[in-house]
This record gives sequence, structure tokens and C-alpha cells, in this order.
Amino acid sequence: MTQRTFVLIKPDAVRRGLVGEILHRYEAKGLAIEALELRHVDAELADAHYAEHVERDFYPPLRAFVTSGPSIAMILSGDSAIEVVRLLNGATDARVAAPGTIRGDLALSNRENLVHGSDSPESAEREIALWFPGEVPAR
Ligand code: CMP
Repeated sequence: MTQRTFVLIKPDAVRRGLVGEILHRYEAKGLAIEALELRHVDAELADAHYAEHVERDFYPPLRAFVTSGPSIAMILSGDSAIEVVRLLNGATDARVAAPGTIRGDLALSNRENLVHGSDSPESAEREIALWFPGEVPAR
């Protein structure tokens, strides 16, 4: 089933010059870029995006990180796009993410893990509405 998902290429990836490599992996897999924008995330957007995490111990440094520089916000689409992006991204903790995944190959941190992908259809629609309020529904 064709799905849309929200992907954030985080500030560590932009700082390290990995945007092209990461975009290439999504495109090579066959996912389509429906929207793409360079965004400097402010605290308000960070809190809304990570609403389920704001009370967690790890959230203050996570907020500092995601607001530390520009990110790339995207909508990707394709067959089973939500699961496919999560498989390409690899485990959240990049230290133990499988080789062959974006995090497994390119990162070594639980926090600075290069990318975020929506974890369910509900999250995808919520995150797309938050980041790209003008986007029309999936075809
Ligand atoms: P993401 O997929 O964007 O979802 C929540 C983010 O919080 C996660 O990627 C990591 O960047 C960060 N995160 C999750 N768990 C931890 C943790 N235990 N310590 C530090 N950062 C974390």
C-alpha cells in the first residue's frame, strides 16, 4: 500500500555533509520525495514534534541538539514507506544499529542519530500536518 511518511534529516547529518548520502539511500530504494525543506527547528516546534518525549530525562539535551542547526524536513512516499524508512534508518541507538542501515553505517550515538522517521500511520499524518500544514493528502 502506498504510504507517506515524515523524515527529518537532523542537524548532525547537515553539519557532517551527509545529506546527499542519506537522500541517495532513500531514492535508490525507490521512495519518492513529495516535499523537502531546509528548516531551523525552534524550541516550540521541537516540543510539538517530540510531544511524547518532553517529560523524559533525555529530552532537554535532545531539544538542544535538534535546535542546534538546520535540518532537512521531508515527506517521502512509496509502498510501505513508513516501515521501509525505519528499516533503512536502523535502530534508534546508532551504536548498535545494524551495518547497512543509515545509523549503523554513519553514526555512533543514541541521540545524534542522523535521521527521524515516523513510527506509525498515525504519527506520519500528525507529523506531516505539523511540519507541512499546506500539504494535500496522499494521492
Ligand atoms: P527519533 O527517532 O527522532 O525519536 C526520538 C529521539 O530521541 C531519537 O530519535 C533520539 O535522537 C533521541 N533518543 C531516544 N532515546 C534516547 C536516549 N536514551 N538518550 C538520548 N537520546 C535519545
